[in-house]
Amino acid sequence: MALLKIARIGHPVLLAPALAVDDPCAPEIAVLVTDMVETLADADGAGLAAPQVHVGKRVIVFHVPPARHRASRYRDAGLDEETDAVPLTVLINPEIEPIGEETEEAFESCLSIPGMTGRVSRHVRIRYRGLDLAGEVIERQAEGFHARLVQHECDHLDGILYPQRMDGLATFGYVEEMTLPRAADAADDAADDAADRAGEENGEQNGGET
Ligand code: NI
Repeated sequence: MALLKIARIGHPVLLAPALAVDDPCAPEIAVLVTDMVETLADADGAGLAAPQVHVGKRVIVFHVPPARHRASRYRDAGLDEETDAVPLTVLINPEIEPIGEETEEAFESCLSIPGMTGRVSRHVRIRYRGLDLAGEVIERQAEGFHARLVQHECDHLDGILYPQRMDGLATFGYVEEMTLPRAADAADDAADDAADRAGEENGEQNGGET
């Protein structure tokens, strides 16, 4: 196992489309994934894509810590709110399909753009599909933070960083310089923002950078 160096915005590997993995069961993919998982944990992040560690292959790893999902979303999805975490997942050659037209904005951050955050619109609900290390198909429906996270990570495989998804740069900035909305009396949207921001600013609590 090894901690890998994370590429930061500006490095060309982050802008290049990654190549499909021919054999998900190949030993070098297992080594890559092991190192990515260790690197992600060390960085307190929620997700990591292979190009972020200078490897141009279509591999992502991610997990959704329990606090990231609102129970209502899980009830809507018919899932058990007691199991509102997504365990560490390895997806090789992932594909995404939006479910419905609904989008929502929330703040994102990225391990390749340390210390910064910006508001990005994403599909609320998606279906995603990919292979695990055994070559078995993983297919899930996701919504909310889970869906956002997978969209963010898959963008990395196409050479897209979240600022490229922003409508403008007015909400892009250093986390430390930006005012965190308070959830207590806020409208639903603002409460979402607060939760998202809290997660992005403190990976140990809620989620972390991706
Ligand atoms: Ni990222």
